[in-house]
Amino acid sequence: MIPQITVLDAGGQYCHLIARKVRDLGVYAEVAASDTPASQLAGRRGVIISGGPSSVYDPASPTIDPALLRAGIPVLGICYGQQLMAHLLGGRVEKGERGEYGFAQFDPVASGSLLRGVSGKQQVWMSHRDTVVAAPEGFEVLGSTATCTVAAIASPERGLYAVQFHPEVVHTECGPQILSNFVREICGCTQDWDPAGQLQSLEDQIRHAAAGRNVFFFVSGGVDSTVAYTLCLKALGKDRVHGTYVDTGLMREGETEFVRANFPSLIIEDAREQFLNALEGLAAPEAKRNAIGEEFVRVQQRILESEHYLNGDWVLGQGTIYPDTIESGGTAKADLIKTHHNRVAGIQKLIDEGRIVEPLASFYKDEVRAVGRQLGLPEALLERHPFPGPGLAIRCLCAEEGGVAERLGDGWKLPVRSVGVQGDSRTYRSALAITEFPASDDDTASLINRMDSINRIVVAVWTAEEIGKMQSVPSTLTAERLERLRHADGIVRRLTLESGFDNDVWQFPVVLIPFGTPGRPDSVVLRPIYSVDGMTASVVRMPAELMAKTVHELRAHTDIAGVFYDITNKPPGTIEWE
Ligand code: XMP
Repeated sequence: MIPQITVLDAGGQYCHLIARKVRDLGVYAEVAASDTPASQLAGRRGVIISGGPSSVYDPASPTIDPALLRAGIPVLGICYGQQLMAHLLGGRVEKGERGEYGFAQFDPVASGSLLRGVSGKQQVWMSHRDTVVAAPEGFEVLGSTATCTVAAIASPERGLYAVQFHPEVVHTECGPQILSNFVREICGCTQDWDPAGQLQSLEDQIRHAAAGRNVFFFVSGGVDSTVAYTLCLKALGKDRVHGTYVDTGLMREGETEFVRANFPSLIIEDAREQFLNALEGLAAPEAKRNAIGEEFVRVQQRILESEHYLNGDWVLGQGTIYPDTIESGGTAKADLIKTHHNRVAGIQKLIDEGRIVEPLASFYKDEVRAVGRQLGLPEALLERHPFPGPGLAIRCLCAEEGGVAERLGDGWKLPVRSVGVQGDSRTYRSALAITEFPASDDDTASLINRMDSINRIVVAVWTAEEIGKMQSVPSTLTAERLERLRHADGIVRRLTLESGFDNDVWQFPVVLIPFGTPGRPDSVVLRPIYSVDGMTASVVRMPAELMAKTVHELRAHTDIAGVFYDITNKPPGTIEWE
């Protein structure tokens, strides 16, 4: 199928999200390398240049074939795409004094086809540092934000348009309108894509990829692997699909029992000790992620060998979905933010040998749920919050060195670092603890944008001591700490389900941080967020009564030293702390 729209991948995490948003409009879109020659794009009705982590002045930064801007095909540049378009056509791009990450107010000053139906101030989502300071000749500036004077530009005669903000993310309220204006009005695309009718073609793809071989599956009990497994069962029949659930010891309370009860055909492999041994002494997030990834491969290998699955009659099935491949640098130029456990060397070998079936690799979470619904899977299972493959290990922070909290502005810089994402690049910085919830989200974003040494802000909801008297001591991942986290997480989860708050959040990580008192070395961070697909996320506030109850139960039934509440959106924080 020839795409009507091609999204050129300039390395942004949002690249595939753009393609998907175009597909949501019923228009088939695909992603291609940013430097695809203009001649190969002939026949497209439009091209979109994605955002990306680079600066146009970096010689190694992704670029496009300049002929594309003269080819007569409408082009929309997004974020880095706007900067690249401006740069190639003689405009000026400069490093901003400070970054702009998160919500901003877009003030349109001109109308026209791109902004049709968009009037008055608009909430948009920004994630950039470089900025266009002068539009190229012949371009009109369509609007600005407080820190970005050139937030949208157009040269309608040439069919060239660009925006600095991200219309593809859910937080940009006028985003769907702008994309629709570009795709339907400016490019004149017609309806040719219906995602609802995918089941048959997915089954065909599975049969094609399996090519007569059987499929061996590792099922985690999460939505992705369950839907992928069920799809394979449907496509190939139960005699050709075998599933194993690995109990890593990194699961939540009651998880293994849930899987045992719901999927009686699964074989349960106890690898708790093996994973704990592999993680011993590790503290850095990427080291932990890699160790877990490698251990998964080892367990897989052991099972494959012991069960004689390694002969050519078997392939490995996985529930990998789109964001997993994007944030691992799966698209050619995306900055590595987190290593996904499905993408370490051992699995890569199977992929290279073509012995892998990943039926959901081009789907987003909500699309996976839609497929699951079509398969008739129970709603209770489909509506479970996503849970990361590395499990509680990446929610149980470790520390190589100890330290104390330092006074910083109106807060405390904690001796605990976590992963974040700013301008499409990975950060690994401290968290700032403050004592009261700020008046608005904007305050949180601007505080983080102002401070280079932090990427996350938490509110101290309860601590056994003053923060200045608390400390972090060298900590690793032990059975005791995992149990402490599992227990706290179990309490929070139960209260969340009972209160119905579970329906208001997309995911609710509970994180254990090595920050406490001599007798109580760890604290807990609550991180309830709302998201559509994990690519961006906004913080959700718990109702006061639930918060009080949660703190009360954590105090009464665990030995933690404090409860913190993460108030950082993604970006600049990631959803998980590691
Ligand atoms: P971050 O922390 O990158 O997470 O904002 C985005 C979403 O991805 C999930 N996540 C993972 N899922 N294996 C998974 O299966 C992983 O290694 C992994 N890391 C993060 C995370 O829970 C969130 O939903």
